[in-house]
Amino acid sequence: MAALRILLLPGDGIGPEIMRETRRLLDWFSRKRKLSFELSEGLVGGAAYDGEGAPVSDATLARARAVDAVLMVSVGGTKWDNVPRALRPEAGLLRLRKELDLFANLRPAIVFDALVDASTLRPEIVRGLDILIVRELTGGVYFGQPRGRETLSDGTERALDTQVYTRPEIERIARVAFELARKRRNKVTSVEKANVMESGAFWRAVVTPLAKAEYPDVTLEHLYADNCAMQLVRNPRQFDVIVTDNLFGDLLSDEAAMLTGSLGMLPSASLGAPDAKTGKRLSLYEPVHGSAPDIAGQNKANPLATFLTVAMMFRYSLDLGKDAERLEAAVKSALESGARTGDIMQPGKTLVSTTGMTDAVLKALDQAL
Ligand code: IPM
Ligand code: MG
Repeated sequence: MAALRILLLPGDGIGPEIMRETRRLLDWFSRKRKLSFELSEGLVGGAAYDGEGAPVSDATLARARAVDAVLMVSVGGTKWDNVPRALRPEAGLLRLRKELDLFANLRPAIVFDALVDASTLRPEIVRGLDILIVRELTGGVYFGQPRGRETLSDGTERALDTQVYTRPEIERIARVAFELARKRRNKVTSVEKANVMESGAFWRAVVTPLAKAEYPDVTLEHLYADNCAMQLVRNPRQFDVIVTDNLFGDLLSDEAAMLTGSLGMLPSASLGAPDAKTGKRLSLYEPVHGSAPDIAGQNKANPLATFLTVAMMFRYSLDLGKDAERLEAAVKSALESGARTGDIMQPGKTLVSTTGMTDAVLKALDQAL
């Protein structure tokens, strides 16, 4: 079997220590499951700015295109607060997403039984929660033109961003959501602000006939983004797949993450369109959490979002569905064993480090072998 080529991008803050533990995890799969990985490592974010003068270099982009999957942890930190916007750590991540055309960002929010009490919401509201946010990732206000700052002729300063979506952009992300819903509970909630925004009304006008023509078997519902934010804390289990634009997806996925107990639990996959010949998609796997500079370098960070992200990479890019399940089950067992990093710590549980949580997952993997 050809080696599976993975480019590892640890990034900033807690990124490097989580990546160090993720290597142990991948090492387990190569030893115990006889998988052959060809791992290489690159810089992204502030680390790349410091080391290579740009938050992602052309060389790293080229490597990202060439491998089977890219796994990133996190970018950003106060150290780069005064760096010009185009060179900020976040710009590296945005460039990766945009240049690889990774338009579909899958953010599953699942509440593990063992963590039901770690959520800030009551257990009966979140128990069994399993929703999937499909966030459009290469359009909208994140990239829309014109943008910038200017001074009007009367001397007034202003800044602007542009929210813009084309029909093809909306159609392709909607199709991803409908296809995924078919493998789940057959329901899609499309989220925008059609009551206020022209682009929101257009989004709705594009999704509705598409659903009717191509996915009549899937239930489609529309919600305004503010209502969706409210419904997510009121009754999150009403949702199956939520499809939304780049900015609303950013906001709603942080909110959904907290339902699961911690931002430290949420994985994500950013996928491009399948290649016409090979069917392969370019991909970037990234946990939803940030670089957590406040705890960086202390071996305190929760590595589980990244481990669950590895499971998504196994499933969506490496054709290792069984190993994805194996890994997800091991995360579940590690939590059931009582191991908790600080972000999900609860009375009566065992506080562990990043390394300790990894040990617990590796132990569970061994036990299930
Ligand atoms: C995310 C992050 C990024 C975003 C930042 C780091 C640019 O918040 O992946 O959700 O806004 O998309
Ligand atoms: Mg975000």
